[in-house]
Amino acid sequence: MNEPRTDITELSLEQRAALGSGASFWTTKAIGEIPAIVLTDGPHGVRRQSGNATDHLGIGGSKPATCFPPAAGLGQTWDPELVERIGTALGDECLSLDVHVLLGPGVNIKRDPRCGRNFEYYSEDPLLSGVLGAAWVRGVQSRGVGASVKHFAANNAEHDRMRASSDVDDRTLREIYLRAFEHVVREAQPWTVMCSYNRINGVYAAENAWLLTKVLRDEWGFDGVVVSDWGAVRDRVAAVAAGLDLEMPSAGGVTDADVVAAVAAGTLDDAAVTRAAERVARLAVRASENAVTTGSFDGDAHHHLAREAARRAVVLLKNDGDLLPLAPSTLAVIGTFAQHPRYQGGGSSHVNPTRVDVPLDEIRALAGDYDVTYTADASAAVAAAAAADTAIVILGLTAEEESEGYDREHIDLPADQIELLRAVVEVQPRTVVVLSHGGVVRLGPVAELAPAIIDGALLGQAGGGAIADVLFGVVNPSGRLAETVPLRLEDTPAYLNFPSENGHTVYGERIFVGYRWFDARDLEVTYPFGHGLSYTRFEYSDLEVSDDLTVLLRVTNTGSRAGREVVQVYASLPGSRVSRPPRWLVGFTGVTLSPGEQRSVEIPVSRTALTYWDVNTEGWVLEGGDYTVSVGASSRDLRLHATTTLAGDEIRVPFTRESTLGEILADPVAAPIALDALSKAAPAGTDTTALGTDLLRMLASIPIERMIGFSGGRVTRDQLDELLTAINSHRP
Ligand code: BGC
Repeated sequence: MNEPRTDITELSLEQRAALGSGASFWTTKAIGEIPAIVLTDGPHGVRRQSGNATDHLGIGGSKPATCFPPAAGLGQTWDPELVERIGTALGDECLSLDVHVLLGPGVNIKRDPRCGRNFEYYSEDPLLSGVLGAAWVRGVQSRGVGASVKHFAANNAEHDRMRASSDVDDRTLREIYLRAFEHVVREAQPWTVMCSYNRINGVYAAENAWLLTKVLRDEWGFDGVVVSDWGAVRDRVAAVAAGLDLEMPSAGGVTDADVVAAVAAGTLDDAAVTRAAERVARLAVRASENAVTTGSFDGDAHHHLAREAARRAVVLLKNDGDLLPLAPSTLAVIGTFAQHPRYQGGGSSHVNPTRVDVPLDEIRALAGDYDVTYTADASAAVAAAAAADTAIVILGLTAEEESEGYDREHIDLPADQIELLRAVVEVQPRTVVVLSHGGVVRLGPVAELAPAIIDGALLGQAGGGAIADVLFGVVNPSGRLAETVPLRLEDTPAYLNFPSENGHTVYGERIFVGYRWFDARDLEVTYPFGHGLSYTRFEYSDLEVSDDLTVLLRVTNTGSRAGREVVQVYASLPGSRVSRPPRWLVGFTGVTLSPGEQRSVEIPVSRTALTYWDVNTEGWVLEGGDYTVSVGASSRDLRLHATTTLAGDEIRVPFTRESTLGEILADPVAAPIALDALSKAAPAGTDTTALGTDLLRMLASIPIERMIGFSGGRVTRDQLDELLTAINSHRP
């Protein structure tokens, strides 16, 4: 990071404390030669407010900016290259709107479909979330604008979000909830990280030294600014001590005075205040030096990019009898979303779009001379459907049904929408459903009725055009679900532990989130993670896994249209020593092929993607063994499998008095030494070689210090300690 021109140590304590909190809702303070900078939402567009109309809930107005697909849509692209280009465009819009830090991306895991803010997050899978989040950061920061990866961490529900504690065990935190953040920090070096509102295992994120200092800085090497979520600081002094640098928004100087008083009283280290001030100053200098005020951005080009992204985000869920793509014909378009599209979520990320593509207009434009009738009147709609060649019914959730700030209580589509669909399908078998929603909805009833379904999730301001493009085959859909569509809410992993109760959320499903859960429980789902159909067909062949873990295969387009296939790589380790899901995503790539074309595809898999968090050594461990590597078109459409044998890391935890006999006898070095000692301690005449397997199994769970009592005093504490020293010193 650039060095500030002002020497921080020359600033008074009051000035240093002041640097650590906002000057206004969206700005930091200018002190000496350190300039003020502007931070604003994010993530899928720039919400630049001015004057007094400032808020963090999307209530006040903001300047027009391109509304790209929110993360719920972008996640379905599985396309980091595209996400990076969007990041670059967002960076350009920031420059033209005088914004120095854009508050995004959101890489929290979609733990439960009811979370009201799932639309702002990419996926239930940490690898997919991390890869897309890092791409977003790279794009934004390539323009000299800072990113703020959020909400750090374990912020997976809106209910009571400013108080509730996410009670999560270490392994689950590391493997599921921190992993995407770790990926973004290590791969893309975001200028800032935003700590979340909630507590983690009882400690507020803003006051969590383990999270903000040990993990984020000491382990991951983060050297930027930790900024609070807006209003997340309860105790600024505790937060500064834990590693928070910037409290937002302005607290009117109240908490600056708290910091000064705490240093004077000796309860806060002056060095912590200096450190925070230095980091904020470096950020401000870097951001303002990089900022080139452009005054405007290319709205047409960005709208075009938003349409490209929206096209790529659409998932073809079902297409019985190849009903899609539509040939020019008469159409009945049904549902208010056709005229008033739902394309983004509610709350702080709400963007004032530069323009909005209306699906009905876009469908009409592609239908040419054919009749396209539209009504919202239910009975007229059914009559129109009967008279047309094909009906298009747009279903979904309204903005009120899901938003930042509150969670959903169910995942059903409104009952009247299902009834309307039923009535339409009765008179028109050629019915296509288009879906618009932020969080997952129960699709069993829709899939039972409609022969074709396309899922737009939320597509941003150009979504209307993208929907028409997919319906008419202008593009071949290649989106993939980034989240499982369950049969029932009751089947989902956190069903009984969502949201918090009495201030605590128990993450009882542990690492079994999303498809990891459905696969481990062997539960039927409506559509699996990674699912998405195409208007063409792809065949996979010649799978190999190289020594450096590159997955190589050949993909052939055997259909009659050009298209993009998202090839997914999953790993599994049967017989693992720790509990693992049956398979987990370790890599993916997109490949675009013309009809008949085939191409070799290489997907690098990092060893990190195979590791588990070992709670004994508090580190990542690659377990040795025979890994199955599977490639396929979804988590439940695995086409080819290969086995690769990895040596794995040696983990050596010293044996202690608490170690069990079983643990010691399982160790090839320790076992003979222990058996020898056992035979010496046994009463004279005991034949220890006759210890049967069953007896050893029964004794296996006994911590060896209990042998003192069981041996009736023949084994002493000193002997035991000597034995442990001998064992530990013989192990490599
Ligand atoms: C949200 C953040 C947002 C901030 C500023 C908070 O309510 O949780 O995501 O960046 O407000 O609007």
